[in-house]
Amino acid sequence: MKQKFHYGITQSSNYNPQRIPDILEQTHRRLARVQIESLPYDQILDKYDRPTTVFYLDPPYWARKLYRFNFTESQFLDMERKLGTLKGKFILSLDDRPEVRKLFAKFQMRTVDLAYTAKRDTRTRHQELLITNFSPLPPHIEKRRSQPNGTGATENRQ
Ligand SMILES: C[S@@+](CC[C@H](N)C(=O)[O-])C[C@H]1O[C@@H](n2cnc3c(N)ncnc32)[C@H](O)[C@@H]1O
Repeated sequence: MKQKFHYGITQSSNYNPQRIPDILEQTHRRLARVQIESLPYDQILDKYDRPTTVFYLDPPYWARKLYRFNFTESQFLDMERKLGTLKGKFILSLDDRPEVRKLFAKFQMRTVDLAYTAKRDTRTRHQELLITNFSPLPPHIEKRRSQPNGTGATENRQ
């Protein structure tokens, strides 16, 4: 299990070895019946797609090339096409870029404001785009939000 710890200058470090057995036990219990697959994402979609499936896709960002294996533009095009054929539901998180909004325009989108919770300083926040082929909100809230004087536009809700 890879875990990152931060050192402290004005606050103490968050590393506490006494918590490790408890963390391992909790992790063991949570993962006891979880199946872990290591396959290219498109094979996972093919294998598990059912009307009752919900996929969460967390691919490399569009603009920030943070990983050893990042996505080219044509891979994002393939992903958009593939997602359009699913029987099941999907939630895709990406960086909020005009190119991303354009490519995935036929799906629903909303931005979410996230804190990097692994750090103590939760003032460091960033925005991500959640792209879905369904409305994640219960119908009565969705209806209220999409009215002209509701709490937000039908797209790009916070
Ligand atoms: C944003 S990270 C996902 C992080 C992960 N969800 C987590 O919480 O640790 C994107 C990951 O997608 C992987 N990736 C790149 N191309 C892929 C592909 N074709 N199929 C599946 N994963 C891929 C990258 O190696 C990278 O680890």
